[in-house]
Amino acid sequence: MPVSPIDPTSTRAWTTLTEIAQSFSPDFRTWFAEDPHRAETFSFVAGDLHVDLSKTFLTEDTMAALLELARETRVEERRDAMLSGERINVTEDRAVLHTALRAPRGSEIVVDGENVVENVHEVLDRMYEFAAKVRSGEWVGVTGKPIETIVNIGIGGSDLGPVMAYEALKPYLQEDLEVRFVSNIDPTDAGEKLAGLNPETTLFIVVSKTFTTLETLTNAKVARAWLLDNLPGGGGEDAVAKHFVAVSTALDKVADFGIDPDNAFGFWSWVGGRYSVCSAVGTSLAIAIGPDNFADFLAGHRAMDEHFATAPAHENVPLLMGLLNVFYTNHMGATSHAVLPYSQYLHRFAAYLQQLTMESNGKSVRWDGSPVTTGTGEVFWGEPGTNGQHAFYQLLHQGTQLIPADFIAFANPTYPFETEGQDQHELFLGNFFAQTKALAFGKTADEVRAEGTDEAIVPARVFTGNKPTSSIMAPYLSPSVLGQLIALYEHVTFVQGVVWGVDSFDQWGVELGKQMANELAPAIAGDDESLAGQDPSTRALIAYYHRHRDA
Ligand code: F6P
Repeated sequence: MPVSPIDPTSTRAWTTLTEIAQSFSPDFRTWFAEDPHRAETFSFVAGDLHVDLSKTFLTEDTMAALLELARETRVEERRDAMLSGERINVTEDRAVLHTALRAPRGSEIVVDGENVVENVHEVLDRMYEFAAKVRSGEWVGVTGKPIETIVNIGIGGSDLGPVMAYEALKPYLQEDLEVRFVSNIDPTDAGEKLAGLNPETTLFIVVSKTFTTLETLTNAKVARAWLLDNLPGGGGEDAVAKHFVAVSTALDKVADFGIDPDNAFGFWSWVGGRYSVCSAVGTSLAIAIGPDNFADFLAGHRAMDEHFATAPAHENVPLLMGLLNVFYTNHMGATSHAVLPYSQYLHRFAAYLQQLTMESNGKSVRWDGSPVTTGTGEVFWGEPGTNGQHAFYQLLHQGTQLIPADFIAFANPTYPFETEGQDQHELFLGNFFAQTKALAFGKTADEVRAEGTDEAIVPARVFTGNKPTSSIMAPYLSPSVLGQLIALYEHVTFVQGVVWGVDSFDQWGVELGKQMANELAPAIAGDDESLAGQDPSTRALIAYYHRHRDA
């Protein structure tokens, strides 16, 4: 493995792609007319996912050049280095082994002389045992009552994965157990989520990889005070032990906080926060959906890991999708990427992907410290269809920016409603099929005229088409399929990061704001000297706060 990243712009493939891009004029109507097998040629299977890339900018030429780019930038070597536990997170000097979190029992990945898969299964077994106890009512609060509500306290990777998956897997939840998620340091979040809860039947799970995150520790303290203030008689000595568990890599800090290490689940520095939902970070999810469904969730991730590790390059879906994103970003001028699930259950999926993709690849230097040589990190965003259709799709169809989009849908509904002989899921899927078709094939001026449209408004009603979309379908949104989708995007992100030469596993860019927030605390609290030392804009904003905050 090369120590230095390979500059993608120095490769032969980059030159080819640049040449292709100069005269690239996508024309889906012609492409499909001239090649009746196009849909077939560019549709792939990965686990349970059917992935149709025929309405993307893949052509024989772009695909060959992109695969060559992957070879020249040694994507597969770096993938293998990651999977075998090499320290590819260079700036933090860490292995990157979220894939070990779902490796089968009995397999072996050695880091620093230890088989990490054994450790993973040891924690999983403890987590499953704990989840089963909470679900069955065997785990009781300090007053002897079974748990009815779990409050997950965490932020970023210690929140987004569990909450997204909890929302996505609603049909798999145990009826008498609710999970709430507190993440924001805005006191509103804890205030709203604690409202109406019975402290006797509430369990808090404090999730923080570092156990130093201000938001999480502050909310955990608020929760502890709320518990002790509201339990009958203050709950006594055992209150925290019975109502608080923790998930962290820093078990010493968990103990300092007052949580019994017996009630803590560990994970490891080689699990990045945004890649951690398969670890004990998913404890609230494991309680909510149960150990068997959580095991299926992990198995889904594993199926995609195996596909990424073993499928030939020309059929390797994460590889192809990652390379396409590079082409869109670096050769076609795209700066954002929409993810549009046709599933209301996936309403937090885009938010989850925002951390995964943007915290991973929003970088300006490469893993050897040199500046990047290309654009990196698109803005990922999205909302479930059909809601998005009535909001921002206008810009996708007729705006001036190129915005590649991934459409995701499932063949089977959870609620098979039928009204007046009309299957509602078919109406829904009709929109899914229609949107990618409209974006690809558009509507010409002649077609608009043929509908009898007044000539003056013909231009406004033309759809140029040739907007690239990927369509991802699966039979059901099951725990396994959700796992496959998550792992798919993890690997897409990885591929892009390797081509760009960035360390997709550090996140130094979040540090400065955190540091400054701490430094500003005295000025905000009224220290005049500290206030005077601020820049004029910050000083004026804090002064506004002081004038308007009620005493
Ligand atoms: O601020 C960014 C970040 O470090 C994320 O990468 C991480 O997921 C989140 O904060 C929470 O960190 P922790 O789990 O250590 O509390």
